[in-house]
Amino acid sequence: MWGGRFQSAPHAIMEEINASIDFDRKLALQDIAGSKAHVAMLAATGIVTREQADAIGAGLERIRGEIESGTFTFSRALEDIHMNIEARLAEIAGPDAGRLHTARSRNDQVALDFRLWIRDTIDTLDGQIAGLQRALAEKALAHAADVMPGFTHLQTAQPVTFGHHLLAYVEMLDRDRGRLRDARARLNENPLGSAALAGTSFPIDREMTAHALGFDRPTANSLDSVSDRDFALETLAAASICAVHLSRFAEEIVLWTSPQFGFVTLSDAFTTGSSIMPQKRNPDAAELVRGKTGRIFGALQALLVVMKGLPLAYSKDMQEDKEGTFDALQSLSLCLAAMTGMVRDLKLDAGRMREAAGASYATATDLADWLVRRLGLPFREAHHATGRLVAAAAARQVALDQLSLADMQAVEPRIGEEVFTVLGVEQSAASRTSYGGTAPANVREQAQRWVDRLGPAGTSA
Ligand code: ARG
Repeated sequence: MWGGRFQSAPHAIMEEINASIDFDRKLALQDIAGSKAHVAMLAATGIVTREQADAIGAGLERIRGEIESGTFTFSRALEDIHMNIEARLAEIAGPDAGRLHTARSRNDQVALDFRLWIRDTIDTLDGQIAGLQRALAEKALAHAADVMPGFTHLQTAQPVTFGHHLLAYVEMLDRDRGRLRDARARLNENPLGSAALAGTSFPIDREMTAHALGFDRPTANSLDSVSDRDFALETLAAASICAVHLSRFAEEIVLWTSPQFGFVTLSDAFTTGSSIMPQKRNPDAAELVRGKTGRIFGALQALLVVMKGLPLAYSKDMQEDKEGTFDALQSLSLCLAAMTGMVRDLKLDAGRMREAAGASYATATDLADWLVRRLGLPFREAHHATGRLVAAAAARQVALDQLSLADMQAVEPRIGEEVFTVLGVEQSAASRTSYGGTAPANVREQAQRWVDRLGPAGTSA
């Protein structure tokens, strides 16, 4: 493609370090879509004739068929997807194929293809995240009133409802969708027509290609257009934050499925056995969701480092943008699918959860609040008295509600029988009716709102 100035072929090592076809073949369909829009514009502006454009368009369609059916032969000697397709086009359409690259460079071509691929991937991820949200919201609705221990420092803190816990992840995932939406809105500008770096002297119509490819407008600065990879960085950043959320949830699943917790069980479909210990059921899918976070963050870090010292405009370093991005976004997609499957199949041991919710004096705050409400104690004094009651219960090795009234009155003489009504875990959870609180009534309302908003399974909100 660029042989005019050269006398000998590249060294094998040069070819190996330079070729990107092994990974950028993933951009084949985007490349064809971009070329079709480009050639249609070249014809509309009179830069090529209608006949030439038709021959090129038909050739591109044929190549698309070859790629989709797996009969296309990719060649490393042709470096990348752009030149592989163009070389095949020359075989099909003859010398006129060479007119396609008028007013275009691989620099704006790759910027375009990569944007299109990321835009498609964002749309897929959005649908998948919505699917996970829906699975969580449906579980939350079913378990709006099942009580579990809420933790801080992984120490039992206060009873919460399982539905409330699941809805926390629905909120996180909604922010992830918002970040991806923002990234999509910002990336949706057309770099095609920026050519190598300076624009072109041909009378091209960048609005036309922008419109044909579903962009909001053409990018405004040709130097920026061919050297910008913010759209990949932003998407990887959003993906990384999403991976943080999935990883935290995965960690909770690992904890909850351990015999020591025993809160939930995963289905056979999303667990594995051990080759030596017959009793085992391992949460491998959750562990891998947690583990794949590493490569997702890694891709973000790698691309930040690739970009950080590059002078304008394009440098070949930027070819390193693709493998990590492809891998990271596909890994996230797989993690979302695995997580959705695990959540759908998740079974609760509601009895064990409830029992754990009541252990470790989880309703001590309810007792302190009662002392404030009923006896008018300042909260700090109530906190102190409750601490002494917890110590008394610990000394007797009983739960708070198993202390006798006399034991309680030894600490605070004004305590009456009524105190026992606030010491149960269900009462505790049900009393947390503040907006955003864990009370089953709140959780039911919020879960229903999510289910309604997300629509039936298989659709995306
Ligand atoms: N394969 C290249 C990449 O992915 C395409 C752009 C090549 N541009 C160039 N001037 N050599 O970045």
